Amino acid sequence: MNSNDTLKIAVIGGDGTGPEVVAEGVKVLDAVAALEGIKYETRDFDFGGDRYLRTGEILPPGAIEDLTAFDCILLGAVGHPDVAPGILEKGLLLQLRFTFDQYINLRPVKLYPGVETPLAGKRPEDIDFVVVRENTEDMYVGVGGFLKKHTPDEVAMQTAIYTRKGCERCIRWAFEYTRKRDQKKMLTLVAKTNVLTYGHDLVWRTFEDVAKDYPDIKTDYNHVDACCMWMVKNPEYYDVIVTTNMFGDIITDLGGIIQGGMGVAAGGNINPEPGGTSMFEPMGGSAPKYTGKNAINPIATIAAVAMLLEHAGHEKAANRVTAAIQQVTGTKMKSQAAGKMGYGTKEVGDLVCEAL
Ligand code: IPM
Ligand code: MN
Repeated sequence: MNSNDTLKIAVIGGDGTGPEVVAEGVKVLDAVAALEGIKYETRDFDFGGDRYLRTGEILPPGAIEDLTAFDCILLGAVGHPDVAPGILEKGLLLQLRFTFDQYINLRPVKLYPGVETPLAGKRPEDIDFVVVRENTEDMYVGVGGFLKKHTPDEVAMQTAIYTRKGCERCIRWAFEYTRKRDQKKMLTLVAKTNVLTYGHDLVWRTFEDVAKDYPDIKTDYNHVDACCMWMVKNPEYYDVIVTTNMFGDIITDLGGIIQGGMGVAAGGNINPEPGGTSMFEPMGGSAPKYTGKNAINPIATIAAVAMLLEHAGHEKAANRVTAAIQQVTGTKMKSQAAGKMGYGTKEVGDLVCEAL
């Protein structure tokens, strides 16, 4: 989008602590927009578990059409203690990722100053890489079925689907991103070609083909199990990782914890095409036990706002938010864990605004 246009943001607070952290994200957005002269508007949508329990609908008729008019969605959290697992995840989060064809799930793994990592001896300069997770294929497509369900002979099938087009658009985007990031200029493909000899063979061949267009980028390959080991032992090795949807899901939780936990980890579900609607979110869940206690950490959501701004072409504002986060984690907060920050949710939001 053109950075002079009014940025249109749909805000879905969602479940549990989602609305609380999103409120702090919007607070910081408002402050940085004023400082940087960014025109934006937000509209709240009450989608989530409470609405579902009340109406039986997750995304009501017309919701997708309404959301299409927005450049970005800021999502808080999905998951309600009174709703069976999978319903809201599938009906809201995955539905939006698939419907808006947000084929990139961008998850930076960055240790901010002052943040404790469980990895002994690792400093912020050692933990700074980015995972590009394919976001529309693999085991997430929902293709499968049961045979002889609820009998001793039951069979269940869950199919992973990979397409040349789906692999190529994600891998190409990852190469472009690695070039733009301009650090080690190394892109590591993470997959499991030794076992998934059809699906990941396609992924691998696509990676090899696309690499020919990027002679300036060093290519590298890790099996996913080895990657888990290296992420713990030598996180400084990585620059950008590109991986499939399910492995990306798993390794980015590992990434989340080495960067200080779910209180800080943010992600973007990006449709890079012109006019695409992208969605930014903290990676943590709805943390029901902290709901309404002003105890949850809003830093991940504020980092998601920085990603949103960068995606919308407001790089300077994004950098300003990131710098403010680093100042607050580095000089103010005691911990990134809910209830142990030394401040409440709202106060952390205020501190980031002051640091802008
Ligand atoms: C994530 C989450 C989701 C996923 C769940 C909630 C469906 O774990 O965003 O990583 O598996 O993608
Ligand atoms: Mn996950």
